[in-house]
Amino acid sequence: MTQTITALGRAALAALALVTASAASAKDFRLGLITPPSHVWTKAAEAFGTELEEASDGAHSVTVFPARQLGNEAEMLQQLQTGALDMAFMTVAEVSNRVTDFGAFYAPYLANDIAHAGRILRSDTAKGMLDQLPREAGVVGVAYGMAGLRQIVSRGEVDSAEDLAGLKLRITPFDPILDFYNAIGAAPTPMPLPAVYDALANGQVDAIDMDAELIWALKYYDHADTILQSDHMMFPMVGLVSGRVWAGLSEEDRALIAELMEQHLDSTIDTYVELEQGWLDQIEGTGKTYVKVDRDFFGDAVDQWNATWADKTATLDELRKVAEDTASQ
Ligand code: BEZ
Repeated sequence: MTQTITALGRAALAALALVTASAASAKDFRLGLITPPSHVWTKAAEAFGTELEEASDGAHSVTVFPARQLGNEAEMLQQLQTGALDMAFMTVAEVSNRVTDFGAFYAPYLANDIAHAGRILRSDTAKGMLDQLPREAGVVGVAYGMAGLRQIVSRGEVDSAEDLAGLKLRITPFDPILDFYNAIGAAPTPMPLPAVYDALANGQVDAIDMDAELIWALKYYDHADTILQSDHMMFPMVGLVSGRVWAGLSEEDRALIAELMEQHLDSTIDTYVELEQGWLDQIEGTGKTYVKVDRDFFGDAVDQWNATWADKTATLDELRKVAEDTASQ
């Protein structure tokens, strides 16, 4: 009898241990972004969370914090490093502030068009760059997404690059874009996304660097005279998981999270390839002065940028090779 109870007791303890273990590994992950709730990135984050919950039979869920609710990207990256934040969908711009090699993605006119930008991001070279993130930044880079190519919206008329000289021009806060507008002779003004509409409306800045989705969705054209469709840079995004949080996950959970997150990040590339032209057409349809310009418009600013960045990272040459190989597919 004693033996039977002991055997039963052992079985019960083992079952309890199993339940406790799976409860301990069950987690509601917090995922932060700076983009508004309606943005393509935020929707992709929500869809990732829904699928993770379904695929893990409810063991894991994701609470998405859009619109800088958890702080700006620099702050979120710090939170990821300490493990205070689990995940983020973040501009590669912010990552390039910590790991210089990522600045190579912003070589002006590296990508010929939005689909080409997607092919560069899907290359093995781009994927390989993520391997350095645990060591250099304390985060795991799961995969890339992207936003649209960069355009310029100006309160005044702009007929040549000389007209941009001296203009207070809003930029996302990171070095490659700062170097580009300095080469043009503008006065680049780093400013986070939520501050941009008012700054353009009240004349705190004369112009902004922005993508077609947000120019259209957030009506930046309202307070502008000229839209330059310059397509001058790609704008990658990366899905990050805290290195500390990652270390505490089982192999099985890591594989599931990586697979689903990659799928939803990658879907943003398809979305921009599909929708970019429609946004541009709608912006052109607003009746504002709409001018298409190319690399020649910027004179020697592109060469200056290339010279500066050739010294900063050898990755630039590798990405140029990828860009050449994927130019016409
Ligand atoms: C921006 O800073 O312009 C930006 C940030 C995230 C997504 C799209 C644009």
